[in-house]
Amino acid sequence: MTERPLIVGNWKMHMTPSEATEYVSRFLSHAVGHPGSRDIALAPPFASLHAAAASLAGSEILLAAQNTHWEEEGPFTGEVSSRMLAEIGCRYVIVGHSERRGLFGETDRRVNQKVRAVLLCGMTPILCVGEQESDRLAGRTREVIDAQLKLALANIRLDDGQSLAVAYEPVWAIGTGKNALPSDAVEVHTIIRNELRIAYGARTAEASRILYGGSVTRSNAGSFLSVPGIDGVLVGGASLDPDSFAAICHAAF
Ligand code: PGA
Repeated sequence: MTERPLIVGNWKMHMTPSEATEYVSRFLSHAVGHPGSRDIALAPPFASLHAAAASLAGSEILLAAQNTHWEEEGPFTGEVSSRMLAEIGCRYVIVGHSERRGLFGETDRRVNQKVRAVLLCGMTPILCVGEQESDRLAGRTREVIDAQLKLALANIRLDDGQSLAVAYEPVWAIGTGKNALPSDAVEVHTIIRNELRIAYGARTAEASRILYGGSVTRSNAGSFLSVPGIDGVLVGGASLDPDSFAAICHAAF
């Protein structure tokens, strides 16, 4: 598994361009970038990507987008393509977040198309999977995760050396303050890594980073990041404060 964790701050629909600029300057004052030891990415909303990219220029912090359209271009009013995101400097794109699936009707087929679009543009998808609380209670976690992964990665080929990021985000843990236990998360991470091994071989499975997401805070981040098999965290609410997100990044050693 990776020795270089990936920490991602998903701002969701927060931060105007000027707020993003202010955030980045405060965040950078915490000297969180440590080339070689960890990757840190911020995922602003589309409208603030450019401002964030400008303020991050010259730093080690990477840019991520929260969503993409699956086509390269076309008559899709209100949509943004992966090509546009790559040109603006995004290295990662979050795909299939449970809010996209649950609130915007994003299907596994769409998730699959988006994963393909992101890879074609040379970026890394952060593919989100996760079970509902009812699935967990019914003992269906493995089944749900397996199905989401298989459908999202159907017919997706990876070039030699290309890897993925997968975020395990139990839906019941997102924005609720009820995080999964690191020991439970690691069980699911093992399932995910095995699926990646079957689909792409050992090298890609080991090089791919499997993140945990769902109510990660500065006080519990260390308990996830210190567990072998958890290669990083995807942070929502606690990434909105630059001091708290910096503390989470500092926990990644
Ligand atoms: P949360 O969100 O950290 O606010 O629970 C995580 C996510 O939605 O990626």
